[in-house]
Amino acid sequence: MSLNIPIDGWYTTSIVVRDYRQVISHYARFFGISHWEIFRYDGNHLSNATFEGKAIEHRYIRVVGRNNDLGIELIQPIDGSSSYQHMLDTVGEGVHHVNLTQSSVAGIKALNPILDELGVSIRQSGTIYEAADVYLLDTRSMVSNVMFEITCPKIDNWKACIVPDEVLDIDLGLLGPKLLPTASMLHLGVVCKDRDATKAGLTHLLGMTDWIEFKIESDVTMSDTTYFGKKVYHKYNNHVGRVGNFALELITPETDKCVYDDFLKEQGEGVHHFFPSMCSKEEFDALLPALEALDMPIIQGGTIDGLIEYYYIDTRQYLSGVTTEVVIPLCDDWKEKMFASSKDAWVLTGE
Ligand SMILES: [Fe+2]
Repeated sequence: MSLNIPIDGWYTTSIVVRDYRQVISHYARFFGISHWEIFRYDGNHLSNATFEGKAIEHRYIRVVGRNNDLGIELIQPIDGSSSYQHMLDTVGEGVHHVNLTQSSVAGIKALNPILDELGVSIRQSGTIYEAADVYLLDTRSMVSNVMFEITCPKIDNWKACIVPDEVLDIDLGLLGPKLLPTASMLHLGVVCKDRDATKAGLTHLLGMTDWIEFKIESDVTMSDTTYFGKKVYHKYNNHVGRVGNFALELITPETDKCVYDDFLKEQGEGVHHFFPSMCSKEEFDALLPALEALDMPIIQGGTIDGLIEYYYIDTRQYLSGVTTEVVIPLCDDWKEKMFASSKDAWVLTGE
């Protein structure tokens, strides 16, 4: 029997932060999210908490913002042992997990045989508002430190029971012009020591069977490759996989002087970048000075001749340790020229 972790959406990309108040306006402006709900798990609303198999008490603040395209969750641990605090203590702020499952599992009884079959344990769990059980799956060894959260509703109207302690409606117009055009999260970029092993893990866990492969080598498949403004030789290969509207890019660097190698050396495997933005060359050129003025320069780039340019913007200070990728199509029919099939184009662009 082939079982997979059930997926019914891409509800949130969850980022562990030290102080949500320092970054909430950044995420609001960057992703165009005005409405934020703040939940304080400070002795209320959380029961049956476990971490690494033991009953625990811990406190944290969860801040959730959504627009029509994506959901961002900022998690600030307060005290006690948790996977969130462990991340802060070991590698610092960054993407901690994604939530892809909120309705298709009736409960832990339905989930347990799936996890047993997959060989996945539960790293952290708890019951929120007596309305839903939340499980953080320990998939770190299979998916390069990426983890998946599953929400198992206990009652029909569970969402109505989860009432925020505070609501922030931010007037985005007061924050300044949008920094980049963003829409849905087209993928999260994951730096892997062995992308074949991570790909096998994702196929096993999620049934992620649609993949495209890029072999990047300077002056072979890509030109004008730069790193912190200087021309460099790059070689790395990456696979992008998609299941439904969830996509991950797996990157294993084969040369140094690239942002992926830096990431591996600094903090090991994990989520390196967001990819929420595609725009025209003219639009990007017009927006770049404002990004640079906010200390968000281009730190890596390259061109697939005549088809696309790509850039990494250094949003690590602005967005809690995460870099941002921008892709610039250079012609109207770039997808037809770049991909063997419309399905391959869908893996990259989600459409
Ligand atoms: Fe990417």
